[in-house]
Amino acid sequence: MIDFTGVQAGPSCTQMLAWFGADVVKIELPGKGDVTRGQLRDIPDQDGLYFTMLNSNKRSLELNTKTVEGKKILEQMIVGADIFVENFAPGALERMGFTWEHLHELNPRLIYGTVKGFPENSPYNDLKVYEDIAQCAGGAASTTGLVDGTPLISAAALGDSNTGMHLLIGLLAALLHREKTGKGQRVYMSMQDAVMNLVRVKIRDQQRLERTGELTEYPQYPHTPFSDTVPRGGNASGSGVPGWMLKCKNWQTDPNDYMYIILQPWGWEHVCAVIGKPEWVTDPAFATQDARKSHIFDVFDAIEAWLADKDKHEAVEILRKLEIPCGPILTTKELLHDPSLRENGSIVEVEHKGRGSYLTVGCPPKFSAFTPKITGSPLLGEHNHEILVGLGYDDAQIADFKEKGVI
Ligand code: COA
Repeated sequence: MIDFTGVQAGPSCTQMLAWFGADVVKIELPGKGDVTRGQLRDIPDQDGLYFTMLNSNKRSLELNTKTVEGKKILEQMIVGADIFVENFAPGALERMGFTWEHLHELNPRLIYGTVKGFPENSPYNDLKVYEDIAQCAGGAASTTGLVDGTPLISAAALGDSNTGMHLLIGLLAALLHREKTGKGQRVYMSMQDAVMNLVRVKIRDQQRLERTGELTEYPQYPHTPFSDTVPRGGNASGSGVPGWMLKCKNWQTDPNDYMYIILQPWGWEHVCAVIGKPEWVTDPAFATQDARKSHIFDVFDAIEAWLADKDKHEAVEILRKLEIPCGPILTTKELLHDPSLRENGSIVEVEHKGRGSYLTVGCPPKFSAFTPKITGSPLLGEHNHEILVGLGYDDAQIADFKEKGVI
């Protein structure tokens, strides 16, 4: 398959296809390559981890597709490809002459995946969009953050990798469709749509708010009036079941000594018993979930008082035995060095020709019939020669391409 993508949204999708076994050829601007090769470098003159962690298992071909020869080579590749993915700025691919009509004419079985910031007929559809802009456009930022704080961007790549995963689903569906019909198709994936799909519960809340004027599971309830828009709800659980982030013993010295707890309606007697409030089981002000709603922070305060002499791991050990849903805040350091994540293939160590070994996130789905073998990312143009030979060019022609800046 042809991977004409850059940065994160497109590469995350094509990397997953490579893990699933596709022969993914990444086309890159000669001498420069994907911009992430040079971004946030931690080793001088070596590809940055931003690139290596999004482009493993691929082959790299330098190709200037604005040259006559480059266009011809790309056309040749399209004729033999199953899938072509790109995430250029709106209009960029078409300016090079590669419209959907042209791609489809070259190869009617081709599945063409394209990532853009906004849906096709959006008033914003000319914008160049990056991760954070997508989070703002898709309703994530306006609903994330502290109650009195500014809109907040999530560290999770809701705009980029999430869009890549949505595109991947679309491409796999298109492959199944082609199995049945023999026809290729175009899969258009906007970052705004992908973010909105994950902000579904907030769109749910907007409609509830418009009907009832309040959202009883938000920390604003019942003391602060609601406006006509879903507010930022801090760390409230989005499910309607109360949940909150709680300080543990070392929170003043360790910024991650916190745990999250969810208070299901059932099991309340276990919560009361463990935090030393057995009277709350029958107290009418606390006995039911509805009764607790208006002063749920009294409950969270009491749990925090209980946590004052326990760190997040100690607390979770106690609560898990009572089947109270909870979890420790795990840091990137804890995740990267967690032996069980290594054993499960969730964090893997791979070799890179320039960098030596590096760690990367493994394939999230775990299959019973095969285990993706994750390899390092390619150097820029590492596969120029073998790919062009495979397309029928000889050494003299390849040298000529190099001379002319085609590769
Ligand atoms: N050969 C010839 N030209 C090439 C090339 C190649 N191999 N690779 C890139 N180019 C050209 C493009 O054709 C384009 O030229 P043009 O502007 O003269 O038409 C130029 O390089 C830059 O294109 P682009 O990759 O779109 O970079 P950008 O810096 O202008 O914009 C984004 C970057 C990400 C903002 C933009 O690509 C975008 O909005 N993409 C869609 C949304 C998206 O995926 N965003 C998330 C990124 S993680």
